[in-house]
Amino acid sequence: MSSNTQKVHVSELRVGMFVSRLDRDWLETPFLLQGFHIEEEGDIDVIAEYCQYVYIDDDKSVKPKASEHSSNVGTARQVRVNPNIFQPEVPLEDEHRRVMGTFRQARSLTKTLLDDIRLGGAINTEQARHTVNECVQSVIRHPDALLWMSKMRDENEYTAEHCLNVCILAIAFGRHLGMEESELQNLGMCGLLHDVGKMKIPPEILNKPDRLTVDEMRIMMAHTVHGRNLLLSSSGIYTGAIDVALSHHERIDGKGYPRQLSGNSISRFSKIIAIVDAYDAMTADRCYQTARTSTEAIKIIYKDRGTHFDEQLALKFLQMVGLYPAGSIVELYSGEVGMVIESNPRYRHLPRIVMLRDKDKQPLPKEVMVDLSLVEKGELSKDYLIKQVWKDKTFGITLKNYLERGLFMA
Ligand SMILES: [Fe+2]
Repeated sequence: MSSNTQKVHVSELRVGMFVSRLDRDWLETPFLLQGFHIEEEGDIDVIAEYCQYVYIDDDKSVKPKASEHSSNVGTARQVRVNPNIFQPEVPLEDEHRRVMGTFRQARSLTKTLLDDIRLGGAINTEQARHTVNECVQSVIRHPDALLWMSKMRDENEYTAEHCLNVCILAIAFGRHLGMEESELQNLGMCGLLHDVGKMKIPPEILNKPDRLTVDEMRIMMAHTVHGRNLLLSSSGIYTGAIDVALSHHERIDGKGYPRQLSGNSISRFSKIIAIVDAYDAMTADRCYQTARTSTEAIKIIYKDRGTHFDEQLALKFLQMVGLYPAGSIVELYSGEVGMVIESNPRYRHLPRIVMLRDKDKQPLPKEVMVDLSLVEKGELSKDYLIKQVWKDKTFGITLKNYLERGLFMA
């Protein structure tokens, strides 16, 4: 480490500083390089999401000109605290018990909805609205129940599961952004229906395990236009969903499709669904790719902010997902392995988990709930800090088995 390196609290960070070390492993953060310049205020907010202290290399830091950032001179910066950190209305256990049946039904209804379209039928608007409303009510009560369930996937049902997951994630994201219930209903509908156009793509292209040819790619990209046309001809659909079906693959830099829109010519809901869609797709096993961990996916979204994704929305999304979203498989420093069931908005690195494997990675005779925030209170040893996130099916842990059985159901 350079002799001009100093430990700095995140509240003292400024644009231009060079961050050479964090108070945690780089792999646990969206920062891709080991060492980077803080280019704008938004970077500081992201650092504050993950770290309390960082190390600044004064030799590599760039001093702002006197005229710049004058409002910061001489005063400690206020790190923005998200005012919309959700306050759950009910205990997580209650919400799990209440929504598990609803979730299974929502999955099956989504599959039926898409099958109907594939067979040339109309979109069952009433059913779609009912499904979205159930999701909105549950996310308002406690987002982590449905977010946990959305991680329990069956690879054979990708498109239906993806559409419902995007619906749930979009609602949770909208809640994080402070949207009202009626907006959440509209955004959820956009999520549920964003990919309906895929039902018009030949299955051999939609499910092709190899790389698509240029012609096949063109056919695949047309799902946006098919989606718009399907929704245009349906009655009683929220009109914003038509735009999202058409525009969810547009990019901020104008390199998306089908119209190469850029910046603010893309609607806010389309920008939101673009982020949520990418996150869910990256964290799923597909015929042509294995799932990435949530951490890997948020790194990609962070890297692509401002080019692919709207910068501010991407940063807000990372804030919502956090390091250890519900459903993450985590290994502790003790060697034990658990699954995150409830995030902790105050101590992001200390979620509540269910312990599943002992330090030799053997199944535990009885699954035990552990609130890692007890580490902060000194009631649990630091061996209970999280060391690493693992993918589904690591250590013999298969997430979808927990959906079949349910948590807290006994
Ligand atoms: Fe799509």
